[in-house]
Amino acid sequence: MVADRKKMTLPMLFEKVARGEQITWLTCYDYPTAYLQDQAGVDMILVGDSLGMTMLGFDSTLPVTMDDMIRHAAAVRRGAPNAWVVGDMPYMSYQPSVESAIRNAGRFMAEAGCDAVKLEGGAEMADRVAGIARAGIPVIGHLGLTPQSASALGGFRLQGKSAAQAKKIVDDTAALVDAGAFCVLLELVPDRLCGLITERTKDAIIMGLGSGPHAHGQLLIYHDAFALYPKFKPRMAKVFADAGAVIREGLAAYVREVTERTFPAPENWFGMKDDEYDELVRLLEPRGDIQ
Ligand code: KIV
Repeated sequence: MVADRKKMTLPMLFEKVARGEQITWLTCYDYPTAYLQDQAGVDMILVGDSLGMTMLGFDSTLPVTMDDMIRHAAAVRRGAPNAWVVGDMPYMSYQPSVESAIRNAGRFMAEAGCDAVKLEGGAEMADRVAGIARAGIPVIGHLGLTPQSASALGGFRLQGKSAAQAKKIVDDTAALVDAGAFCVLLELVPDRLCGLITERTKDAIIMGLGSGPHAHGQLLIYHDAFALYPKFKPRMAKVFADAGAVIREGLAAYVREVTERTFPAPENWFGMKDDEYDELVRLLEPRGDIQ
């Protein structure tokens, strides 16, 4: 636990990079988990639209709305006052126009108290990134495997395998940084591509997710890292603790103890003084059974 941690700021993130320290970043969607992540000293929290899958049980992120995102991001902010909280712009909250991008990025800041926003896409989204940055909102680009375009990308698979595809990711990174992104997330690209981009990017932070050790820091999906998503565990994720197993065991114990009447025990309930109880019975006479 990090006692008395200071509120993370943008200069502090860049200072970590300058010192050669790794930045830690996890997804989070709720108040109690945000509290734990803040206490553990996690630098950045992504309120990802992955919540559509991890929290709401959809098969993709596409059904997630801005209102869903604001509700979850505000809860995370309340739980994590010190981490750098990033609101993930959901499908169709920024694709239609620069104006929609600025307006919805502004909602994350004003209504949920976020520190930054993230959006998916490369050079084609540079005008959205520029608009948001001009509005004074720190913005993160997201390249490689971009789940909102999973259909166009042929599924959840490694991106940038060929030299030509990798060059496009390099060019897209440059376009996003030129447009004003302070950070670019590279999801599921080869380790050497991530390393090359990190080495050649001077004015922005490069974060990796399943893209090897060479980025300025790592992002993981919380539900993957703690075995809380029942459908699958991506190969790139490491399970740091099997919270899913702990919860399953606890649930089985709960069902067993209630069934066997060993729960609740006297320490789990409150009694009533004899004279108050006797008076209650007297007050109810001759009423008998409650109908
Ligand atoms: O929504 C999310 O959690 C994300 C990650 C997959 C990067 O965008």
